[in-house]
Amino acid sequence: MLPAYVPNPVAAAAGGGRPIDGGRYWRDGRRIFGDGKTLRGLFIGIGGGLVIGSAQIAAQSYPVFSSLPEHTLLSVLLLSAGALLGDLGKSFFKRRRNLERGAQWPVADQYDLVIGAFVLLVIFNLTWTLSVVTLPMALAILIITPLLHRGANLLGYALGIKEVPW
Ligand code: CTP
Ligand code: MG
Repeated sequence: MLPAYVPNPVAAAAGGGRPIDGGRYWRDGRRIFGDGKTLRGLFIGIGGGLVIGSAQIAAQSYPVFSSLPEHTLLSVLLLSAGALLGDLGKSFFKRRRNLERGAQWPVADQYDLVIGAFVLLVIFNLTWTLSVVTLPMALAILIITPLLHRGANLLGYALGIKEVPW
């Protein structure tokens, strides 16, 4: 899951500049995505996921890691891009619910990346997904993700990278 977990914190650290929606508004009079979703964050964030995923692929040839399920460039790309597209989709629905940038939306904030990553995996790499993702693994992801999310955001807030601790 590292290629899905890395893009969000990288986007938070490296994001900024022109928002993806270009400052435009939806027909309800509110921003499409808001200023918290930038092209720089999207691309550098996905790049961060590709870097960690490539390191995982390189590590696969070492015997210590041979029992781990194998990543491919495609699985790594789908996890990284899916994580931030899930985050982007969530912001779209957040704005439709009249929640300001940075406002909390429990459950959605924690699982957006998992949903985005798995939607892309299922659409573009179903065979890999079915052969790699077991039921215990799926349960572990559901339990670990919100804990990591909370920990990473508290850390980001303490370091001054995030404006809010969620
Ligand atoms: N970020 C970015 N581009 C993205 C995703 C995130 O630049 N595609 C940066 C922004 O600076 C953002 C920060 O990472 O403020 C934290 O991300 P997140 O919590 O997802 O955004 P919020 O500001 O909380 O906005 P939203 O309410 O839309 O979730
Ligand atoms: Mg947020």
